[in-house]
Amino acid sequence: MRGTPDVTVLRLGHRPGRDERMTTHVGLTARALGADRIVLSGQGVSRRGAIEDITDRFGGPFAVEGTDDGEKFLEDWEGGIVHLTMYGLEIQAVEQEIRDRFDVGTPLLVVVGAGKVPFEIYERSTWNVAVTNQPHSEVASLAVFLDRLFQGTQLDREWEDADHEVVPQAVGKRVEQRD
Ligand SMILES: C[S@@+](CC[C@H](N)C(=O)[O-])C[C@H]1O[C@@H](n2cnc3c(N)ncnc32)[C@H](O)[C@@H]1O
Repeated sequence: MRGTPDVTVLRLGHRPGRDERMTTHVGLTARALGADRIVLSGQGVSRRGAIEDITDRFGGPFAVEGTDDGEKFLEDWEGGIVHLTMYGLEIQAVEQEIRDRFDVGTPLLVVVGAGKVPFEIYERSTWNVAVTNQPHSEVASLAVFLDRLFQGTQLDREWEDADHEVVPQAVGKRVEQRD
């Protein structure tokens, strides 16, 4: 781990059958773009193995956890809460304030929904943040948010304990096996 988790992503809800790939992709996006941990809620815990498998192969640190009660997890969170929602304030209006709080050591919980998100989540969140006020996807909004939070620095991250490493190629695929 990079010490105390700084950015935790909470995947609130999961609709079995419909959300299998989406919940996995929320986890993979959180990992790849700089979060420290994902917490899967309810039946989303079924995707835990798929996310951990990628961390085992391509490196970490990245923690995958589960909770029976995502709303309780959010209620108990000590730190800032960013709820990504198309109904929120524009990201460009609040990103600096969020970065400022993060930079002074406030851990962040970044919440993305699956189906309808209860109104209590909007009330409990420190910031309700929209990546445009247009409907799209939790994977897209999470990716844009993390990139704005880290301002691109997460793209240069070094990965630890990877079995596999992709070597960038202009054309073709090269994956090296590590000892
Ligand atoms: C497919 S949407 C479902 C939204 C649902 N109708 C609701 O009432 O919350 C799933 C998730 O994608 C994210 N999302 C979708 N569009 C977004 C946007 N424009 N900005 C930020 N997050 C967005 C939100 O986290 C949302 O909970």
